Amino acid sequence: MPVTLVVGGQWGDEGKAKIIDYLAREVDYVVRYQGGANAGHTVVVGDKRFAFHQVPSGVLYPQTASVLGGGMVIDPTALVEEIDALAQHGVEFAGRIHISDQAHLVLPYHILLDCDSEDRRAGGGIGTTRKGISPAYADKARRDGVRMADLRRSPASLRELVTTRVRENNKLLKLRGAKTLSPSKVVEELLKARRRLLPMITDTRPLLWDAVAAGKRILCEGAQGSLLDIDHGTYPYVTSSSCSAGGAAIGTGLPPSAFERIVGIFKAYCTRVGNGPFPTEDGGRAGAKLREIGHEYGTTTGRPRRCGWFDAVAARTVVKINGITDIALTKLDVLDAFAEVKVCTSYRAGGGSVDVFPADARDVSAVKPQYEVIRGWEAPTAGKHLDELPPRAIAYIRRLEQLVGCRIHLVSLGPERSAMVEMPLVRGARAGL
Ligand code: GDP
Ligand code: IMO
Ligand code: MG
Repeated sequence: MPVTLVVGGQWGDEGKAKIIDYLAREVDYVVRYQGGANAGHTVVVGDKRFAFHQVPSGVLYPQTASVLGGGMVIDPTALVEEIDALAQHGVEFAGRIHISDQAHLVLPYHILLDCDSEDRRAGGGIGTTRKGISPAYADKARRDGVRMADLRRSPASLRELVTTRVRENNKLLKLRGAKTLSPSKVVEELLKARRRLLPMITDTRPLLWDAVAAGKRILCEGAQGSLLDIDHGTYPYVTSSSCSAGGAAIGTGLPPSAFERIVGIFKAYCTRVGNGPFPTEDGGRAGAKLREIGHEYGTTTGRPRRCGWFDAVAARTVVKINGITDIALTKLDVLDAFAEVKVCTSYRAGGGSVDVFPADARDVSAVKPQYEVIRGWEAPTAGKHLDELPPRAIAYIRRLEQLVGCRIHLVSLGPERSAMVEMPLVRGARAGL
């Protein structure tokens, strides 16, 4: 079982980090393949809470090496700060972090451009994390990016390259009436980060190919979620990378055939942060209750997350896009206090039934979710073992399995490492597709 891939099944914040931390107990490499500091991944170990943004969440086990893959856009200064903050919590990094020389840099002008675009867009914009993600990926696609490989240039050559880029972007920022940057300040800050990061920058592809050949265990970690994928999500209300399974091959250099297990992470309900359609959103008391009990506030921005019910139409579509082999269902304990739990089983639109999550965000906005109402179990599940779970909680898990058409293998019942149940396979359950 060389390569396992973990993908978010909804709009991000599904609890990927908790599951990655659980699966990382037994792996040699944990690899991030896309996104950047827009991600906020929380792992709780005892009384410590670790927040990861760019470093893969599997780093807490001393035997794992961490790889920041070529599909990422990395804010170098923020990465150094994150590494230092983790080191202060006793996480030892020496020789354990490898940064792909293909990864692109997020530089201060990307952040200013992201903020400016958001401020200009009517209706509250996309609701980005303002971490410079889309301008950095735009520069990559435009072939104007600065890559980790460029940090290997001499300081003089790097200075020349970055000064040019800052000047070009200052023109754009000035046209838009936004703040501009001092090229020398940007260069000095980058040179400072460069001193720390240079020893970690390498071609991570042969590292991973050799690891596969040697039978090492590799876990690839997607950030965001499939419904935020630039192609398969609710465009334009998406992030700027391929967070679904297809992006993992591109963002690591591993061939698609290497990915044997693809674990989809789904919350037992749904959340979304930022704007864009969300068919099962509950803007009333139930949504507020999910938010309070589930502590649904962003790890990166602190924004309250929009909350609603599990959407089996979206989940079925996501299983197909990713080829999900098994599901980890998280935050089931958040539903303990509900007398009734709703699940969306299908959509109605234009007088007919819709079985696939639409590709066009306007069509997503137009659907009317059809719900099945399930009696809640109204008993604590947090931290329980499988044989202690209320039968109605088990029935909920099995119903989701049926509706989504994919095995639910892991169920998370609390933020702590130990709060995890492995579900036995029942006859008739199957992998997606
Ligand atoms: P990620 O971005 O997908 O890694 O998810 P986040 O870390 O942004 O958000 C998930 C939040 O839920 C974090 O605060 C986790 O500590 C917490 N969490 C994860 N799994 C569970 C669970 O099963 N139950 C509860 N109550 N909290 C959980
Ligand atoms: P993790 O990895 C939830 C959302 C933003 C916004 C949209 C575009 O913690 O699941 P961006 O800054 O990427 O250009 O914002 O995507 N978004 C996330 N939502 N979890 C995340 O990451 C997210 N990363 C980006 O809120 O709607
Ligand atoms: Mg998150």
